[in-house]
Amino acid sequence: MALSTGQPAIGLLFSETGVTADVERSQRFGALLAIEELNREGGVDGREIAALSHDPGGDPERYRLYAEELIRNQDVKLLVGCYMSHTRKAVMPVVERTDALLCYPTPYEGFEYSPNILYGGPAPNQNSAPLAAYLILHYGERVVFIGSDYIYPRESNHVMRHLYRQHGGKVVEEIYIPLYPSVEDLNHAVDRIVRADADVVFSTVVGTGTADLYRAIAKRYGDAARPPIASLTTSEAEVAKMGNEAAEGHVVVAPFFSSIDTPTSRSFVSACHQFFPQDVTITAWAEAAYWQTLMLGKAMQAVGSCNVEDVQREIYKIRLDAPQGPVWVDQQNNHCFLTARIAEIDSSGGFVVKWQSPGPIKPDPYVVVHNLDDWSASMGGMARS
Ligand code: ACM
Repeated sequence: MALSTGQPAIGLLFSETGVTADVERSQRFGALLAIEELNREGGVDGREIAALSHDPGGDPERYRLYAEELIRNQDVKLLVGCYMSHTRKAVMPVVERTDALLCYPTPYEGFEYSPNILYGGPAPNQNSAPLAAYLILHYGERVVFIGSDYIYPRESNHVMRHLYRQHGGKVVEEIYIPLYPSVEDLNHAVDRIVRADADVVFSTVVGTGTADLYRAIAKRYGDAARPPIASLTTSEAEVAKMGNEAAEGHVVVAPFFSSIDTPTSRSFVSACHQFFPQDVTITAWAEAAYWQTLMLGKAMQAVGSCNVEDVQREIYKIRLDAPQGPVWVDQQNNHCFLTARIAEIDSSGGFVVKWQSPGPIKPDPYVVVHNLDDWSASMGGMARS
């Protein structure tokens, strides 16, 4: 798309193809919905905000190249995008060198800070910490880790191992499978899960391998009781692919589920139903892309330009009523105050919320507080069903 001179624009880096296309398409449409709403309000000083998209196909090198293309060739320095952590790591030096800004609406492993990235998904203290407390309290102390073989699963497991140990729990097996697992990879992983005989499986498998794994586990256990799989990333998009039978009983932690019954959530879900193509699912990460883009656009409107420094300064002043609840950026670390919710998937594929944090949780990307006691206390009186 050609931009007219001085036209305000946001660059979108989400994959339409590749291993994480289902969830990244939901993120892209979440961002596009926000841009449509901003333009209905008059854009920036009456000028429509343009959305420039590229499809990096899940390949980190193409994320880097498209970020360069947007920033250097098209002078678009406000970006929303990336899902897998190695794609964010590929874009980070580009936005840092060019003084651009990347809004990253995805859960990740923590332990990172860039002055040029705003982290809109949960850090480990906003998802892994409450999840560990919940799992130990309700299912037991023996856990198996299974993840895709890249940085996010390996680093998330490092944090989860600390959390489990601290509470007297035990990691009985740790398994990694390729991003595109073969049938043999999956069968071998399921053999190891069955042999481990754990109380729960903690999965950091992402993308198309998620539905394959959940289905392989459902098939192997058949009518016998299977251990619940708990995840930070399994969303409505992956559940739509695996089917309700394979999804039933599993556990997810995220700031948002489309089942949340509040006025802002209901109006977001209804807007998505009108705006998203039929095959695009409403997910927590579409919600994150939506509100981060909305926050970015509101800052552009307030300062009347795309000047990165001015826009970023303005963003720090915004407290947004997002579909998940209030959200704002912690200027100390560029991560966001977010609500945590834990849901179990029911027989119709619905996400039934079993616990939520009393309010938005302050982000602690360095997990200075590796402490489960506070979470356990807040869950003490909670019945599981
Ligand atoms: C991820 O790689 N941060 C999902």
